[in-house]
Amino acid sequence: MERILVIGAAGQIGSELVMALRKIHGNGNVYATDLKQGPKELLESGPFMLLDVMDDKRLIHFVIRHKITQIYHLAAVLSGNAEKLPLQAWEINMQSLLNILDLAREVDDLKKIFWPSSIAVFGTTTPRYNTPQLTITEPNTVYGISKVAGERWCQYFFDKFGVDVRSIRYPGLISHKTEAGGGTTDYAVEIFYEAIKNQKYECFLKKDASLPMMFMDDAIKATLNLMESPLENLSIHSSYNVGGISFNPDDISKEIKKHIPEFEITYKPDFRQAIAETWPASIDDSLAQKEWGCKTEFELPELTEAMLKGVREKFA
Ligand code: NAD
Ligand code: SER
Repeated sequence: MERILVIGAAGQIGSELVMALRKIHGNGNVYATDLKQGPKELLESGPFMLLDVMDDKRLIHFVIRHKITQIYHLAAVLSGNAEKLPLQAWEINMQSLLNILDLAREVDDLKKIFWPSSIAVFGTTTPRYNTPQLTITEPNTVYGISKVAGERWCQYFFDKFGVDVRSIRYPGLISHKTEAGGGTTDYAVEIFYEAIKNQKYECFLKKDASLPMMFMDDAIKATLNLMESPLENLSIHSSYNVGGISFNPDDISKEIKKHIPEFEITYKPDFRQAIAETWPASIDDSLAQKEWGCKTEFELPELTEAMLKGVREKFA
């Protein structure tokens, strides 16, 4: 029986991943933790505790006391917020991962770690279209630097100590259950809230800023698939490319207009446009498809329908 700790559980991914894990492993076996209080659904369906991942002593006590066998480490400062406080972001993103990798080395019961990387590991010197799994990773943001360093630490702990740590370079994730956490791809979440509330949206990226994106259901499925795959099937121990779909603000606004004809988008690019310009427009995830069956089901029309429905239900 698995006993799972999710760190950063109140965030955009955690709030949905915890519910998916509880369905598989049983509510009582999935411990959701965060610095802040979680959404109602999380609190009511199973254990939720306040825990700071930087508090390594409390973390180790927690893991030993609850005989944790897997950790999903989702706490991080995302790209937009990290540029405002670069050294703090570096400290949180790096130290938290190192605390957990070291725990996995020391604690026998703890068998598997999930830690997400990002398309932010790539930079202006990376091939921008159909970016390969193995390519140049020279990121231009502090967030991206922390993700590349994190990937190298994952590989190191696997090679040196046999720590089974698995990772996905998530594209921008789109969901309606919890707000997005301060990233560059957040426009593609905000746009749905504004479309329904005000029938207009002022976008902080340019009209043609194409980025890889993924609907949360596909991201959760990918994460669970990777974590359930036999270790011997996996050749990547840094992080897997996952492609999703690629679109720009103009594409998504045209799709929204099909449902809300009066919707209008205007553009006022800010510092996040400069970040977006350093990231790939599309990703080659053929290795993830081959080794653990990565698959994207939500194309832009289905994603738009699901988001409009989800946000409308939330407002109702
Ligand atoms: P989020 O900001 O929505 O959630 C992160 C959670 O971590 C928050 O609830 C926050 O309170 C918590 N947290 C922050 N510091 C903490 C600490 N010291 N101790 C405990 N909890 C702490 O982020 P998310 O979108 O859910 O992202 C989760 C992970 O996935 C991150 O590593 C992020 O880099 C990665 N990722 C996300 C996306 C995306 O589009 N959402 C894309 C690529 C990678
Ligand atoms: N969606 C994330 C961000 O914009 C990518 O890792 O920060």
